[in-house]
Amino acid sequence: MTTQAHITVFPDQVHFIAGAAEFMAARAAEAIAARGRWTAALAGGGTPRPIYARLAEAGLAQGIDWTRVHFFFGDERCVPPDDPRSNYHMARAALLAHLPLPAANVHRIAGEEDPALAALAYELEIQRFFRSAAAPAFDLICLGMGDNGHTASLFPGTASLREQTRWVVPQYVEVMQSWRVTMTAPLINAARHVAFFVEGAGKAAMLQRVLAGPYDPDVLPAQLIQPTAGQLHWLMDAAAAGQVINAT
Ligand code: 6PG
Repeated sequence: MTTQAHITVFPDQVHFIAGAAEFMAARAAEAIAARGRWTAALAGGGTPRPIYARLAEAGLAQGIDWTRVHFFFGDERCVPPDDPRSNYHMARAALLAHLPLPAANVHRIAGEEDPALAALAYELEIQRFFRSAAAPAFDLICLGMGDNGHTASLFPGTASLREQTRWVVPQYVEVMQSWRVTMTAPLINAARHVAFFVEGAGKAAMLQRVLAGPYDPDVLPAQLIQPTAGQLHWLMDAAAAGQVINAT
């Protein structure tokens, strides 16, 4: 890895969930204090769900002015928003529905639409929101990592890995037999903070390859994530970190 990553290893899942939620709350407070708002892209999958639920708890949530927060999504499954597979559906149930957040502050990817149109519409929404022709700097982009090294919906061997211009693209994922819409590496790498949340022994071998193995992003897409000017964070529990501690 070329970007200097900040690696935090929590002793167990309970501390990982609390630590990751506290990390998000700290990024929110920092951004609101510095720029009057917090723009954060949420990750999908299962790992972030308890982290979002923890962030929504009074202890953390009450310290944040949610009217100054805008949530986006790093990727989405091409399903309707009320489908249990939807990343928006998961985030809404765990976090968004529990916050005094104006509806206009949640920018979901239209998973129910044609993937190509949904990707185009989302890129335009980001462009309009940030009023930027160049890739804008989200304050935080949250990511997970699959046990095959994918992140967001950037899967091994897919065309989206080589996208250098567009910020959001549709991608048919053969291994999932389904369409996805995903942010691309150029957009993710423009962020001020990018944080991977990785938990469980099942990710340990892949995490060691991504963090300490040869650079091979077509096979290990998570290696594409190297913020241009921002900070890269890896938050993990000891079970996931197992082999990484020995390797780095
Ligand atoms: C998705 C996510 C995806 C996820 C990884 C890890 O849409 O599924 O964006 O990139 O973060 O697959 O998923 P788990 O956290 O469930 O292991």
